Amino acid sequence: MQANVTLAAGYRLEFWAEGPGTIRITEGEALLWRVPALAAHPEFFSYQHREASSITLDCDRPEAILWAYGYDPNTVEHAGITVWEFGADGVVLRSGSEIHDWMASDPLRPTLHFSPIRQWMNDPNGLCRIGDTWHMFYQFHPAGTDWGPMHWGHAVSKDLFNWTHMPVFLHPDQNLWRLGATGGAFSGNAFRDRNGSQIFFYTERLPAYDLFTGYREIQKLGRPDRSMLYLSDAETILDTRPVDEGVEHDFRDPKVWWDEGAGAYRMVLGAALHGDPAVLLYGSPNLTDWTYLGPLYRAPAHYRQNGARAVECPDFFPLDGKWVMIMGFVGYTEPESGRHNLLFAIVGDFRNDTFVPSTGDLQILDFGTDYYAMQSFAADERQIAFAWLFNWEYRKPPGSPYSGEMSLPRELALDPSGRLLMRPARELDKAWPTRLLPPELDGSFALGDVPTEIRLKGALEGTRIMAMSGSALSFEVTILNGRLSIRLPQDDGKIRYDAALESATDLLVFHDRGILEVFGEGGAVCGTRRSYTNITPDRIVVTSAAEVCVFERKSASAS
Ligand code: FRU
Repeated sequence: MQANVTLAAGYRLEFWAEGPGTIRITEGEALLWRVPALAAHPEFFSYQHREASSITLDCDRPEAILWAYGYDPNTVEHAGITVWEFGADGVVLRSGSEIHDWMASDPLRPTLHFSPIRQWMNDPNGLCRIGDTWHMFYQFHPAGTDWGPMHWGHAVSKDLFNWTHMPVFLHPDQNLWRLGATGGAFSGNAFRDRNGSQIFFYTERLPAYDLFTGYREIQKLGRPDRSMLYLSDAETILDTRPVDEGVEHDFRDPKVWWDEGAGAYRMVLGAALHGDPAVLLYGSPNLTDWTYLGPLYRAPAHYRQNGARAVECPDFFPLDGKWVMIMGFVGYTEPESGRHNLLFAIVGDFRNDTFVPSTGDLQILDFGTDYYAMQSFAADERQIAFAWLFNWEYRKPPGSPYSGEMSLPRELALDPSGRLLMRPARELDKAWPTRLLPPELDGSFALGDVPTEIRLKGALEGTRIMAMSGSALSFEVTILNGRLSIRLPQDDGKIRYDAALESATDLLVFHDRGILEVFGEGGAVCGTRRSYTNITPDRIVVTSAAEVCVFERKSASAS
């Protein structure tokens, strides 16, 4: 394969490739750069062009290049990356709306929800707003569509819903593919220090040779370059865990804040204490020296007894006069329902480094099991959250260029009884305006292949929403006997995806090519599920005594 491309001065081409194969970049007769022999494992390469000119890129095995993009550092902040797709006939370059159109042309890819252009994505990371730009980072494996050595992908947005893809922000410390290991730059948070500079905290899992035991996780602090393109030279700030207190290998996913009461910084980490999922509290006067202050929360034995190994992605933040803790219990299966991959919330008071929950009960944050690793952040006087829509049980059909989607951004609040409420962020209406769909003569609604929103208000008991793809079920949402439930074609009835409602008077349902996000009771009861079957329903039938409105949504920036 040979391609001729004109590059600006300073242009960067970044890619991951796996041999066998060779790559050469020439300018006329002059050899500028080459890889004489690609290794038998993925490796990262970065080529920087010095003076504007046309180059020829030769690659004897285009399929050796696993993921490639380029950018001009002077314009990337606004323009984003240009994707380089290598094929037998040469290179296809896609930028801006061409990337968007290429992604939208995949009939299996949701459009309202964020997904990576290619390859594997999991947890949202480092969420923040800087000036008028929202930044989303995410766990990313650039060499494949399965989980692997972790990097941080990056995207920016002006409206929280339409995203521009950026270069990979953070790489693992070592080439883990070469070591035959996993690990790398695990989840973490963005934090603005008291001088206003942007910092990131994250976990590095050191080269790991077993997915479940024996690994080592350390915490790092890094500062981005001025254009927020790279995090490099991160320093280790915590590399020993409190082993004597019974903390094993899980020790990760830091979240940091400045604590007015203590006049110092605080950090929570997900871990296990003698096998019970736990959230650990650390303190620091200066962000680099950290002391263990003790467990902030330890889950009741029930969770360990039902498979929970540790807390993942703990979140801890003030909200409406209280403190909210969010946790994922990795490995836990709820005995009554068979559900796993659940997130839990607990609300209480935080004083003198002690968390006193208001009730002993953990609130299941989302009854659908495809809402995991939620991360929230404070911006714009709101607490906003994204989560990863995935459950290890189900995968995209083989052949997909990517895996993983983010939830809609949700705004968090507490209701008077202390339940956590989640609702789609208010930016949605401007970014993806609605169009009301008129009912057909038989009362059903004909759907186009665009995101759909269904709103119900009134007496909801007995409500049934059936979405059909031809004569096949796409999804069903019901409220029967005071329980809100979701059924997908893949369900065999062994697991019930439902939750009790205290008052059934309002319901919001979003559907976007197989992603269902359901919000009941003003967001106190949420259910999120990812379906891979019959994901483009053409008709919705709603049976309900309540007032029903069905809308389609289209991006305001769509051409
Ligand atoms: C949660 C999680 C985190 C970890 C990351 C690794 O999905 O396991 O605990 O930091 O994913 O990709």
